[in-house]
Amino acid sequence: MKIAVTGANGMLGTVLCPALARDNEIHPSDIDSLDITDLQAVRTYLRDLKPDWVVHAAAYTNVDNAEKDQLLANRVNAMGTRNVAQTAAEVGARFLYYSTDYVFDGQADRPYREWDATNPINEYGRSKLAGEFYTRSLCPRHAILRTSWLFGPGGVNFVTKILERARKLGELRVVDDQRGSPTFTRDLAETTLCLIGNDALGTYHVSNSGDCSWFEFAQVIVGQAGIATQVHPVPSSTFPSPARRPTYSVLDNYLLKCEGIGLPADWRDALRRYLGEIQA
Ligand SMILES: NC(=O)c1ccc[n+]([C@@H]2O[C@H](COP(=O)([O-])OP(=O)(O)OC[C@H]3O[C@@H](n4cnc5c(N)ncnc54)[C@H](OP(=O)(O)O)[C@@H]3O)[C@@H](O)[C@H]2O)c1
Repeated sequence: MKIAVTGANGMLGTVLCPALARDNEIHPSDIDSLDITDLQAVRTYLRDLKPDWVVHAAAYTNVDNAEKDQLLANRVNAMGTRNVAQTAAEVGARFLYYSTDYVFDGQADRPYREWDATNPINEYGRSKLAGEFYTRSLCPRHAILRTSWLFGPGGVNFVTKILERARKLGELRVVDDQRGSPTFTRDLAETTLCLIGNDALGTYHVSNSGDCSWFEFAQVIVGQAGIATQVHPVPSSTFPSPARRPTYSVLDNYLLKCEGIGLPADWRDALRRYLGEIQA
């Protein structure tokens, strides 16, 4: 199959492209070759290419900056997604959009299923949800993959930040009142391949299995890396930030379970593989 991938140089794109390229002809783009906020450029690019799938990993992902620069976050995540979804439909391609656990408000007392009501509490979440609306309304043959707390090669992420700080400092303070599911980009890429192979339609939650707070995540990172730094739990109020974050955004991979699709591994196992890669 011929697959166009946006956001190819981002953290997810970096591992997604080689994974998709195993069995497909892929056409990666990033902001320098295709700015998704330019509808005419998107039209020209996709009309020439005529892909079978458009996998849309480009996004504005800085959650705190999105509060200050709401217009840019929405230009990219809402209008940019509209441009790509609409054009995918025009050229007869299927469309796959990555969304986020931050479309939920965090008030649930059990993991969120795909059909649960959304209610984002920050601008990043609102802009990504607007991207979901455009995906559903403009490209009927779509799959939306909501994921959470990504880590992997090709970008600064929570794991690399904790490793860097733990090596410098004897003690770390990490927030303990936000819970989610860390997700390794390589595992997300494999599930993406599987869903594309199944011609998946609709909204799927795809995160590594299990959940934790950022504090617990940091403790396991430091432990698995063999660094003797103490990690202490603190409330979010210790580190005031422009964007509010949901206190609980654990995703239930319910549609994968319903359809008997292999669930991504436990996040601790995924982390071990990632640390192995870093150390190698
Ligand atoms: N990271 C997470 O924890 C997380 C969690 C849940 C969901 N997601 C979703 O997963 C997807 C991949 O995330 P990621 O972490 O790989 O993000 P990322 O590393 O920030 O990559 C996004 C890519 O999109 C590019 N981009 C930004 N504006 C663009 C534009 N106007 N036209 C074309 N490309 C543009 C960025 O380029 P520049 O770097 O040059 O700006 C970057 O290369 C996103 O949809 C994100 O919302 C991520």
